[in-house]
Amino acid sequence: MKIAMIGTGYVGLVSGACFADFGHEVVCVDKDASKIDRLLRGEMPIYEPGLDVLVAGNVAVGRLSFTTDLTEACADADAVFIAVGTPSRRGDGHADLSYVYAAAEEVARSVGAYTVVVTKSTVPVGTGDEVERIVREARPELEIDVTSNPEFLREGSAIEDFKRPDRVVIGVQSERAREVMRLLYRPLFINETPILFTRRRTAELIKYAANAFLATKISFINEMADLCEKTGADVQDVARGIGLDRRIGSKFLHPGPGFGGSCFPKDTLALVRTAEQFGAPTRIVTAVMEVNDQRKLRMADRIIEACGGSVSGKAIALLGVTFKPETDDMRDSPSIDIVGRLKEAGATVVAYDPAGMDEARKISAFDGVKWAASSYEAMQDADAIAIVTEWNEFRALDLDRVKGLLKSPIVVDMRNVYTAKEMREAGFTYLSIGRETVGAAA
Ligand code: UDX
Repeated sequence: MKIAMIGTGYVGLVSGACFADFGHEVVCVDKDASKIDRLLRGEMPIYEPGLDVLVAGNVAVGRLSFTTDLTEACADADAVFIAVGTPSRRGDGHADLSYVYAAAEEVARSVGAYTVVVTKSTVPVGTGDEVERIVREARPELEIDVTSNPEFLREGSAIEDFKRPDRVVIGVQSERAREVMRLLYRPLFINETPILFTRRRTAELIKYAANAFLATKISFINEMADLCEKTGADVQDVARGIGLDRRIGSKFLHPGPGFGGSCFPKDTLALVRTAEQFGAPTRIVTAVMEVNDQRKLRMADRIIEACGGSVSGKAIALLGVTFKPETDDMRDSPSIDIVGRLKEAGATVVAYDPAGMDEARKISAFDGVKWAASSYEAMQDADAIAIVTEWNEFRALDLDRVKGLLKSPIVVDMRNVYTAKEMREAGFTYLSIGRETVGAAA
């Protein structure tokens, strides 16, 4: 089948490359000519493991191409995917749908014979109706269907998530569109992936409900971690103890500095706004957001506490700045709040991240932060280390070497990468999340 993928951001590029790998003929479109140039040269605009190889392979066999010409890409497409950004609208937190609607207008001008227009961007319930209205109003004679096909890709494992998903959700309004969508996802039918066909509005809501539920699990376990710290219980065991109950499940119960990234913060807020608009407030999701916002700010206090109540004039080595490993994405990363607060408290911050430093430099909170070329360089003469992101290379630090480099052996581990036992034996003051504190600060 022929696919036009509008938007070569994270979702569009990964989905386009994976559909090409399924055997479809995919043209990825973007307005940003420099991005398309880079893609044509084989350069990836984002860091995602395996994406460069997948793109190169499919370009080489002629199934994947890139262009700025939307009209040409859509002209003979069986399906046109809209995968443009839906950022939080400044001021009110609603999803900004201007890019989606602009794409819909262009699609209306460009498609020919029967086409399925698929919304892949995360859009509030009812957006598909508006996309359909835009296209029908512009070209009443066109034969189209508008479907919703939300994505559930995690950064860092997006290709795996696309090719071996837990499920695919497709919201359709007609049997004809359903058949086209079935053909697009045929390789997954063969793998027996559950494909859930629903009405369009339901599919739109499933996406937000899924992200809000996952975010709820995270805020829940983070609050349990706080309670564990006060009561002497261990949150890892609590997470395991509840996660083994299959009704709860063990995933997304890792306590940490709070969730960040391009989806959870934005999508929880957009869901709350939609729910208010429809007069059915989602109070749980509101609380989840509040817990998370406060938590990110409070994380810096833990570092200050570990340093004996003040970081003024002290050097803090920050290991990891991205919101999670295997990405260079800095959007809503907890490190932004942590760095801001540490600077306010008079600390010097020396940071290292395997992939996120270029993106972090663009964020004003990081002005004045010194950047190191390795974790060991960051910790040279530092007064404390804070592990903010659980990159693999931070999991196996040479603890003797670390101790030799630090001015004082203090480690704040926001991802529970190390155990209290090994840190005690290595002679560190060690604060983690929801677990026993080791050393001077205990
Ligand atoms: C998420 C959803 O998982 C994905 O389905 C959706 O399409 C987009 O949003 P992503 O933002 O890439 O994906 O990251 P994810 O792995 O879900 O993590 C999000 C945030 O939650 C990160 O900051 C992570 O550190 C945090 N997290 C996740 C926890 O703190 N604890 C957990 O147990 C899991």
